[in-house]
Amino acid sequence: MRIGLLTGGGDCPGLNAVIRAVVLDTLRRDGECVGVLEGWRGLIDDATRRLGRDDVRSILHQGGTILRTSRTNPFRSADAVERLLATWKKLELDALVAIGGEDTLGVAARLFREFDLPIVGVPKTIDNDLSGTDYTFGFDTAVSIATDAIDRLATTAESHNRVIVVEVMGREAGWIATHAGIAGGAAFIAIPEREVSVAEIGRAVRARAEAGQSYSIIVVAEGAAVAGLGRGRRSAADEFGHALLGGIGQQVADALEAETGFETRVTVLGHIQRGGSPTAYDRVLATRLGLHASELAHKGDFGRMAALSGAEITSVTLEEAVAEVKTVPSELSELAAIVSG
Ligand code: F6P
Repeated sequence: MRIGLLTGGGDCPGLNAVIRAVVLDTLRRDGECVGVLEGWRGLIDDATRRLGRDDVRSILHQGGTILRTSRTNPFRSADAVERLLATWKKLELDALVAIGGEDTLGVAARLFREFDLPIVGVPKTIDNDLSGTDYTFGFDTAVSIATDAIDRLATTAESHNRVIVVEVMGREAGWIATHAGIAGGAAFIAIPEREVSVAEIGRAVRARAEAGQSYSIIVVAEGAAVAGLGRGRRSAADEFGHALLGGIGQQVADALEAETGFETRVTVLGHIQRGGSPTAYDRVLATRLGLHASELAHKGDFGRMAALSGAEITSVTLEEAVAEVKTVPSELSELAAIVSG
């Protein structure tokens, strides 16, 4: 079989581990792999490269993606879809493994549904906001990086009796904020799923001060809902309708300092959360998901996405995976609130 592979959307530690797994499994089955460059753009513009054994040596631990990525949406124009189909035909692909999040897999689901293209998906995003899978690879790495940052910020915050607001990524879901906030022992965690007020955050800071803790770390998701403050949109919508988020951390810091009188600083972690090597957990998860996707492709079980369910790797339909954004359940945020402060 000739299997195409592409990575779309924001990059994420573990992408190369998936590529390696699919290539190794395909070669083992006497198949061949074609790397499609820069997500769906590579199929529209016919930009590809061969992927042999040597191409996937020493990439397991590397962040980013050797195939590059983009946020190209072929359904933005009829012409792009036609060109994509023409490239597919020219390449004589028997299957495509699309590694991506909600947007990339949304395109995959539509191409499968409307054109019967033999596609399987692998769930990728640091945001962990994809339905149908318990976790996505990249999330553990992002949480580890954010937790390490919180640990570091805590020592300087404590030395100066300061409040430090840490803004983390995650789009419209508070997964990174919740997990890193719990792991880092944050005084307060603000997420998109539950609106909070600056007064509420201020109460947490004051309560700590009264208990003898003269510093606080406040974790704020980039999409956090804070009453009276804008959601920090920084750009026009991209081809999938998403605006770039960011800036809410500074707004919270300013309002909190005015509210409490505590000296407050802000740190925006930004793309640091997406760069560098994947954790061991993400390497293993990405490898397992890649092997499962490869098996689905070789078996001809298309229109599905490899997924993690408990400790098992299984699969769900692409439609199921992209049906809705997976947000933090109230049970988890309530649990986080119990141990915050
Ligand atoms: O979806 C992953 C993500 O890192 C989000 O957490 C963030 O909002 C967005 O991508 C940033 O996008 P860009 O790479 O375009 O700056």
